[in-house]
Amino acid sequence: MILYPHFDVGENGHLTIGGLDAVELAKEFGTPAYIIDEDVIRENCRTYLKAAKVCFGPDALPLYASKALSFTGIYRIVAEEGLGIDCVSGGELYTAKNADFPAERIYFHGNNKTDADLCQALDMGVGTIVVDGREELEALNALAGERGARQKILLRITPGIDPHTHRAIMTGNVDSKFGSAIVTGQALEITRAALTMPHLSLAGFHCHIGSQIFDIEPFRDAAGIMLHFIADVKAATGFEAKELNLGGGLGVRYIEEDRTVDYAKAVAEIAEIVRKGAAEAGVAMPRVILEPGRSLVAAAGATLYTVGSVKEIPGFRRYVSVDGGMPDNPRYALYQSQYTALIANKAAEPKDHRVTVAGRCCESGDLIGENMPLQSPERGDILAVLCTGAYNYSMASNYNRIPRPPVVLLHKGKARIAVRRETYADLVDLDVK
Ligand code: LLP
Repeated sequence: MILYPHFDVGENGHLTIGGLDAVELAKEFGTPAYIIDEDVIRENCRTYLKAAKVCFGPDALPLYASKALSFTGIYRIVAEEGLGIDCVSGGELYTAKNADFPAERIYFHGNNKTDADLCQALDMGVGTIVVDGREELEALNALAGERGARQKILLRITPGIDPHTHRAIMTGNVDSKFGSAIVTGQALEITRAALTMPHLSLAGFHCHIGSQIFDIEPFRDAAGIMLHFIADVKAATGFEAKELNLGGGLGVRYIEEDRTVDYAKAVAEIAEIVRKGAAEAGVAMPRVILEPGRSLVAAAGATLYTVGSVKEIPGFRRYVSVDGGMPDNPRYALYQSQYTALIANKAAEPKDHRVTVAGRCCESGDLIGENMPLQSPERGDILAVLCTGAYNYSMASNYNRIPRPPVVLLHKGKARIAVRRETYADLVDLDVK
């Protein structure tokens, strides 16, 4: 086992993913390729759903934050597993619809939804719209009115939490483009406004404090602040929130040194925190929604590359260049995110080299990682980067006119293409001659 049980070493010394030989997968589907173990995603969905039902009752509905990995097939998987989803754009809504995802189980987020986005959501029958600010509230009320509808909404609130994570992925603090802050009084103000809107039905509040969080403490703080806010709103307006969405953010183990989060235990702890907090604040226990993204899909993925040049700079370092890079995984360039890499065809050999894995873009920052332990690399080796299921394909670009890799799903020992490899013809398809 390497990090997770679905990554292992076969008898021939090759990396196996979900029991399949990674070198054979690279041969069959080419490189670079995203390999996603569907069974792992399904298992993670079940863990969250079961824990949520045990802790919050039979109508509990964890949501999959689909920004982590979005393509038609994943919405089918999540629908089959009985979760809801969080969508953040017209594109994600469209993809969910393409998969016939039940619209009432969709929560639609976004800090700057356009009128077109709102119309699309209303016309699709999206269950819940998480309203970010005053203008959106008014626009949505008017658009719902035009349709003779009464739309269920939550209001996005910023509780002012620093979850000790990377600044760029910290979204719950007061100085944020998301939501209305409690401390500035804007959260109460928008709540009062929402309650006057005839075409909107306010169910409660949402907050999301950040991503890749390993401790439960920031969730404790957020839940406490949100429950006191619910109590203050009740005292000021008589409205008592029925729903509290605490967002996503639980961390994932990417490297050996990272901690493992027990998601079922985390859900139970959050449930306990909310139960106690509600009693303390003197409000009814709300329906609690969690919306994990990363922790449902990250570990399920691996990216397979072919090694090209291996360049040793005496006194400096060894660059191992692969046939992908920041266009398929921008997370090191953006956040210095750490990954585990290995050579799939030498998986049983010791990792006695330290290398910088570079991509093939015309840019020095195009790196997958630095100082990475690796087996002895040679041109033609298959290099695997593990735990790339979240925020890789969904953040991929065509920088340098590099086509995006395919997404290959593994299910019950079989591999199938879920998103085909982009071609050069695809790249010019949108260009008008
Ligand atoms: N709900 C909301 C409202 C969110 O904004 C997010 C993530 C989630 C749920 C899911 O959070 P998760 O469970 O995946 O941590 N591109 C960054 C991550 C950005 C996360 C943005 N929001 C990365 O690659 O690390």
